[in-house]
Amino acid sequence: MRIVLGVGGGIAAYKVASLLRLFTEAGHNVTVIPTEAATRFVGTATWEALSGNPVSNSVFDGVHQVNHVRLGHEADLVVIAPATADLLARAATGQAGDLLTNTLLMAHGPVLFAPAMHTEMWQHPATQANVETLRSRGAAVLEPATGRLTGADSGPGRLPEPEAIFDAAIALVQGQTDFQLPLAGRTVTISAGGTREPLDPVRFLGNRSSGKQGVALAVAARNAGATVRLLAAHMEVPPPPGVEVVPVETALQLREAALATAGDSDVFIMSAAVADFRPAVVSDTKIKKRDDSADPVITLVRNPDILQELVEVRNAAGPSGQHRLIVGFAAETGDSQGDVLAYAEAKLQRKGCDLLVVNHVGSDKVFGQDTNSVVILSRSGSGPQEASGTKAEVSAAIISRIGDELNHLALN
Ligand code: C5P
Repeated sequence: MRIVLGVGGGIAAYKVASLLRLFTEAGHNVTVIPTEAATRFVGTATWEALSGNPVSNSVFDGVHQVNHVRLGHEADLVVIAPATADLLARAATGQAGDLLTNTLLMAHGPVLFAPAMHTEMWQHPATQANVETLRSRGAAVLEPATGRLTGADSGPGRLPEPEAIFDAAIALVQGQTDFQLPLAGRTVTISAGGTREPLDPVRFLGNRSSGKQGVALAVAARNAGATVRLLAAHMEVPPPPGVEVVPVETALQLREAALATAGDSDVFIMSAAVADFRPAVVSDTKIKKRDDSADPVITLVRNPDILQELVEVRNAAGPSGQHRLIVGFAAETGDSQGDVLAYAEAKLQRKGCDLLVVNHVGSDKVFGQDTNSVVILSRSGSGPQEASGTKAEVSAAIISRIGDELNHLALN
């Protein structure tokens, strides 16, 4: 199809190069029209090279082709990304000072705006009124994603990820109007990595969790428009940009952070590998090897089951807890007494969470790997759902399922 990609003058313009790539690789013919301000962020040469089409924002270039009329008229789809506050205002008031705004006035097909700006600009009544105006005229305006902004602060105003804009654009062309990011306006808290239980100042009991799955879930939830908080135990991978990170070390610290954040979390995903036991005594000084006394014996005590406690707290919260979704993970092996799914089903009932993501583990599977294969069990009665692929793909499937379950909760 013929797509006009209008690029506004915001820092997120650099991400639109990836969006352009997604369109061209899917076989579409894209004409990019950057505003003059946009070319201060990403130059015309980039847009020309990536699109394979000439680029201009002047109504006085190629006048004989009547571009200011033709481009909008011929386009099967117009996508504006990033839609800055200025561009939304100019579109809402029907201005025609450059090629892009002329094209918007001539557009016959669907028009999609993907806003990006600072939170206060997005929430300003002027911007909100412009968005309402555009929507009332039939344009599709995505909610911006929530997360880290250009500076140190965070909030709604991030450009949705290129893949999300691409999906929304295709959905729009296919006549679907219900394409808002599935977790827009939701807060998702995710625990990730493995806890470390100290024995003395230098030693700990740990586990093989890399944190990759939890981080992939955080990315998928962020891309789905959620405000994401990562309760990060020990991880071998860095936390992703655009999420709030709460570092923790032990199961007890994770429990404290989890209980403190449960109340304002629409979704709580316990993907951390929490130590079931911790040393009963933590020595203040390094435990020494001695020839004159017996080797030390470590006595362990049980850690609280955080997942189960989150469910109890949620259930005790009454109506305010009813729409919160709690997701557990289970790394299972089968044995002579039962298979993996039978054990997992029993765990789902015992823990009382809404979804349980089940990994079949062996010594070479799952931990630290980039791929994964899971089964998602639900307490709401729907059958087991399988998902496999990279941890990013599995995470996208889990987050999409969470979106469906939240919709289901909202209806009940
Ligand atoms: O019982 P099991 O350890 O197999 O359960 C795994 C699930 O329970 C995971 O979601 C894990 O994060 C959570 N868990 C917990 N607190 C513990 C142990 C596990 O929340 N002490």
